[in-house]
Amino acid sequence: MAFLLSLLLLEQVAARDVSISVDASNLLGDLNQPARYFGADEPNYAYYPDGQALLAELGQLGPQQTYFRTHNLLTTCDPPNDVSARLKWGCTNAYTEDANGNPIYNWTIIDRIFDTYLERGVKPYAQISFMPKALATDPDPYTFLFDPTSSYNVIYTGWSHVPTSWQKWGELVYQWVKHEVELRGEDEVAVFSSRADDLKPNIGYWNGTETQYFELYDYAVANVRRALPTARVGGPEVAGGPGGQFLPLFLDHTINGTNNATGGTGSQLDFISFHAKGLPTYTNATGSVPGHLSLNVSASLMNVRDAFSVISSYPSQKNKPVVIGEDDPDGCAACVSDAYGYRNNLMYPSYTAVAFSRDIDLAKRYGINLEGTLTWAFEFDDHPYFDGFRVLATNQIDKPILNVFRMFGKMTGQRVDANSTGQISLDAILSDSVRGEPDVGVLAALNETEHSLAIMVWNYHDDDLPKPDADITLDVRGLSQQWPGCQSARLTHYRIDNSHSNAYTKWLELGAPQNTTAAQVAELKAAGMLGTLGKPTNVQLSDGKAELEFSLPIHGISLLVLEQQ
Ligand SMILES: *[C@@H]1O[C@H](CO)[C@@H](O)[C@H](O)[C@H]1NC(C)=O
Ligand SMILES: *[C@@H]1O[C@H](CO)[C@@H](O)[C@H](O)[C@H]1NC(C)=O
Ligand SMILES: *[C@@H]1O[C@H](CO)[C@@H](O)[C@H](O)[C@H]1NC(C)=O
Ligand SMILES: *[C@@H]1O[C@H](CO)[C@@H](O)[C@H](O)[C@H]1NC(C)=O
Ligand SMILES: *[C@@H]1O[C@H](CO)[C@@H](O)[C@H](O)[C@H]1NC(C)=O
Ligand SMILES: *[C@@H]1O[C@H](CO)[C@@H](O)[C@H](O)[C@H]1NC(C)=O
Ligand SMILES: *[C@@H]1O[C@H](CO)[C@@H](O)[C@H](O)[C@H]1NC(C)=O
Ligand SMILES: *[C@@H]1O[C@H](CO)[C@@H](O)[C@H](O)[C@H]1NC(C)=O
Ligand SMILES: *[C@@H]1O[C@H](CO)[C@@H](O)[C@H](O)[C@H]1NC(C)=O
Repeated sequence: MAFLLSLLLLEQVAARDVSISVDASNLLGDLNQPARYFGADEPNYAYYPDGQALLAELGQLGPQQTYFRTHNLLTTCDPPNDVSARLKWGCTNAYTEDANGNPIYNWTIIDRIFDTYLERGVKPYAQISFMPKALATDPDPYTFLFDPTSSYNVIYTGWSHVPTSWQKWGELVYQWVKHEVELRGEDEVAVFSSRADDLKPNIGYWNGTETQYFELYDYAVANVRRALPTARVGGPEVAGGPGGQFLPLFLDHTINGTNNATGGTGSQLDFISFHAKGLPTYTNATGSVPGHLSLNVSASLMNVRDAFSVISSYPSQKNKPVVIGEDDPDGCAACVSDAYGYRNNLMYPSYTAVAFSRDIDLAKRYGINLEGTLTWAFEFDDHPYFDGFRVLATNQIDKPILNVFRMFGKMTGQRVDANSTGQISLDAILSDSVRGEPDVGVLAALNETEHSLAIMVWNYHDDDLPKPDADITLDVRGLSQQWPGCQSARLTHYRIDNSHSNAYTKWLELGAPQNTTAAQVAELKAAGMLGTLGKPTNVQLSDGKAELEFSLPIHGISLLVLEQQ
């Protein structure tokens, strides 16, 4: 016990020296910044006050397009007049039937949701689900009440069932896309509204067989394209990486299966989507080590590796865009537990930097065209401050997690060669996660038209325990090729740590108020923005080289932006 205690104390004091090198002359291809996809179970919060405010922030993350995916766009309200938002639920009443079983389409709520996105610079990554009550083979019970103490299984109700009629299901899809084309114009819809993904086919979200899922997919795709032949469609949003044999069977089906909707061979597939989740755990206090949670980034990365490995084995599909349609540290945004206690603090953004940068590395290894790493987190209006859900903001106060997306939003252009002596290798992080030394990693991007170089550095460990700071020496070279004759650059050092870009520590400092004053709200809002470590400075370049030094606390993130001047 004495040994452990002294070890912990030592860890707190002794900083670790790390050297990072960036070679700006070595461009590795378009980074395509994938961290600009978001999603949630609950569609209706979009048009609530806090939802609107957060969407406006998401629309402004960077120059690249932000997308939003939500469940429940076709779910029936139950009771019929209740369109209020609640946890793990949402509804639009897009499809009901009259007493004779004739369809009644009503796009009012879907329009309201998509309008709210589009007015704020966010495009829908439209999900064609869940099953309307009038079409579900086993509709009752249909609604449910979920709270963080609920068993997850309470959610699997009528909406997860196969349709009573494939013709009616197909016609619903056709009518929806036709409506979008009429409302928004073909060009606009061709970009945003035409992607078909579906019910997560391999867990309780789909109460049908694999064959029935393929049938659902075929009818959805055929009818999207009947309304808009240029539409981009894809799927299958399978859970758990490839979901065992599901992803290969699905890819087989899209290539050489019998298309149930058309009778032809195969099915259109313009992009491929699957989900990856980490696996946090909580360990009780033992000896001098306090009780603490541990994230597990390798669980998520193994999902990504396994799915990429399957996709790369299909010569005709491997170049298609891939969206990791949920890419999160755990499996339930609306659940709260000790193991999920990472969501307010620095662990969430630093985990995200590690997970997404390794997704990019895995895409390179498998030759995958990675388009999106989607964060399944939004916000819940009318809940207490910092109540522990996996959300990006709380009562219009941005959590630290949102600032890592603001950082990613500044990483445009080409990926640049960068190494760190503190970075764990891809194979080691896949097999052991980050349980020994922290991962002091780097991701860099050069924007050739803006003449800017953005370097992200993080200091991450799976355990929510004190660990040493990293004393970093950052060598940048190769700028003479990029910015010929440039003698000095302007450096802006963005920082997420306990005293920067952190509304949570500010809130704790204020005494964790639930009833806030206007002055406190203003202070919290300001603290939630992406902040810098001091003012911008000038850095002398000698022969296109610069050497920078800084210290980075555990679970902190730095983004250094150098601009030619
Ligand atoms: C990074 O490491 C690789 C492999 O050792 C090496 O080829 C490359 O030059 C290094 N890059 C930098 C910027 O140091
Ligand atoms: C369509 O839905 C909206 C929102 O729920 C509702 O106000 C409206 O009455 C519905 N329209 C029809 C014709 O039922
Ligand atoms: C499908 O739904 C039925 C109820 O209609 C339920 O008993 C069964 O467990 C569900 N199956 C799956 C795989 O969720
Ligand atoms: C479809 O192709 C896969 C390989 O991609 C093969 O395993 C399967 O047998 C083929 N199925 C048919 C019906 O041809
Ligand atoms: C579609 O699948 C059903 C069984 O699920 C089958 O009866 C039907 O013949 C299939 N249709 C086509 C066009 O393949
Ligand atoms: C951890 O402690 C809690 C309550 O203090 C207890 O319920 C739980 O069983 C303990 N877990 C382990 C693995 O010992
Ligand atoms: C992380 O999760 C994976 C998948 O469940 C498991 O195999 C692995 O042992 C876990 N890693 C750690 C360090 O707990
Ligand atoms: C470079 O930055 C500008 C301004 O933010 C942006 O419009 C442009 O798309 C970026 N270039 C690339 C290749 O991403
Ligand atoms: C917050 O204020 C409301 C009345 O405005 C009061 O009912 C409630 O008890 C207060 N809560 C706290 C935590 O002070």
